[in-house]
Amino acid sequence: MSILIKGGTIVTADLTYKADVLVEGEAVRAIGAGLAGEQVIDATGCYVMPGGIDPHTHLEMPFMGTTSADDFLSGTSAGLAGGTTMVVDFCLPAPGQSLLEALGEWHQKAGKAAADYSFHMAITWWSEEVWREMAEVVKRGINSFKHFMAYKGSLMVNDDELYQSFLRCAELGALPLVHAENGDVVARLQQKYMAAGTTGPEGHAYSRPPEVEGEAANRAIMIADMAGVPLYVVHVSCEAAHEAIRRARALGKRVYGEPLVQHLVLDEAEYFNPDWEHAARRVMSPPFRDKRNQDSLWAGLASGSLQVVATDHCAFTTEQKRMGLGDFTRIPNGTGGLEDRMPVLWTAGVRTGRMTMNEFVAATSTNIAKILNVYPRKGTIAVGSDADIVIWDPEATKTISAAGQRSVIDYNVFEGYRVTGLPRIVMNRGTVVYDEGRLEAEAGRGRFIEREPFPAVAQALSSWKALTAPKPVERGAIPAGV
Ligand code: URP
Ligand code: ZN
Ligand code: ZN
Ligand code: ZN
Repeated sequence: MSILIKGGTIVTADLTYKADVLVEGEAVRAIGAGLAGEQVIDATGCYVMPGGIDPHTHLEMPFMGTTSADDFLSGTSAGLAGGTTMVVDFCLPAPGQSLLEALGEWHQKAGKAAADYSFHMAITWWSEEVWREMAEVVKRGINSFKHFMAYKGSLMVNDDELYQSFLRCAELGALPLVHAENGDVVARLQQKYMAAGTTGPEGHAYSRPPEVEGEAANRAIMIADMAGVPLYVVHVSCEAAHEAIRRARALGKRVYGEPLVQHLVLDEAEYFNPDWEHAARRVMSPPFRDKRNQDSLWAGLASGSLQVVATDHCAFTTEQKRMGLGDFTRIPNGTGGLEDRMPVLWTAGVRTGRMTMNEFVAATSTNIAKILNVYPRKGTIAVGSDADIVIWDPEATKTISAAGQRSVIDYNVFEGYRVTGLPRIVMNRGTVVYDEGRLEAEAGRGRFIEREPFPAVAQALSSWKALTAPKPVERGAIPAGV
């Protein structure tokens, strides 16, 4: 069965041009004019773009005494309805648990995914067993390891563990990721605000100021440099962290930064809302920031010091958020966004002139496909690439609302936001999975996408490290008894 996408304008990270796309089976077979297909989709007036990749989701994840509400079916369905055809979720071993055992559990949960998926492996504790299993994890198609510098007492790792794990990543040609917040300082600030009677959601923001993020980002960058490994900083929310990344890149370090769509358009005023539920629903780490930080993040995307826009989709219902009534430290951390990432970024980014269409494609798909080493299978429209394609209607509009969303939670942090620019048709590996508002995704049709380690970056860094490593001074024989 072949499908011809006809009359549209192809937009990739580097090109905008009019051409038809012939899809055969799961892949793009040809691009050009005068092609024929058994089925024809008219894309006149639309942009034909690579499917979005969201590299940061937490689906059905046990966290803070509960489990995130969207599972791999509702989460990937939300993604598809918003133009995202692949998610990369975090496999989170409990401290002390075997990485391979946790990986088995994640594969089990992901069996019902409606879109393609991959995993990052989290390093939540350290031992020789973890060191050994990391190699097996890489063999099983995972080339990225996540480290939490926050969540003291549960997921947090210390600097020694960070350095050990980064060294192991360097050996394996894998990419370390960090959640950059100083967990020790956060824990002290949480105690301080609770003791002072600030028990509401605003205490969450007060106890996680930009300084804790900037400090941890700097620390991780320096430790990664000493270990000779590239680094990816997730959910960069503020100028303090962006500045650290920008400076590192200017010094030639391979450091990547990922802002979230939430931080680009929402700000800390949400936590001062007198309605406790409104504020608690927006509790996530790092918190939404003073608006000034948004200009920094947008500038980073335009100038290339930040590369990727993700969601950190980790959705909790209002009922779950109420676990933290009277104690903000118990509000489950996380917000949704999978269905809204691309329309919101298009509206706030492309339509305002803060980014070009090509930069939009780079930030939502191409850059992360390259960083995670699945390019050009994913992340572009090219002959031989997976037919993950979004036919984007730049004039379609809607007002975001929890009513009708695919996520199972009972609210949406973007409620009332008017978007212009929406997917009309979405294809994942050659199958139309979303068509004019109708989701045709089936549970279990998503596939695990294996990712090879990165020989090029690892070799470059290890050659340079070997060349510039401290060496003993050659002094010849020391004359005896002078
Ligand atoms: O608040 C958040 N971000 N929840 C999900 C876990 C994490 O830190 O990414
Ligand atoms: Zn995080
Ligand atoms: Zn409200
Ligand atoms: Zn996260």
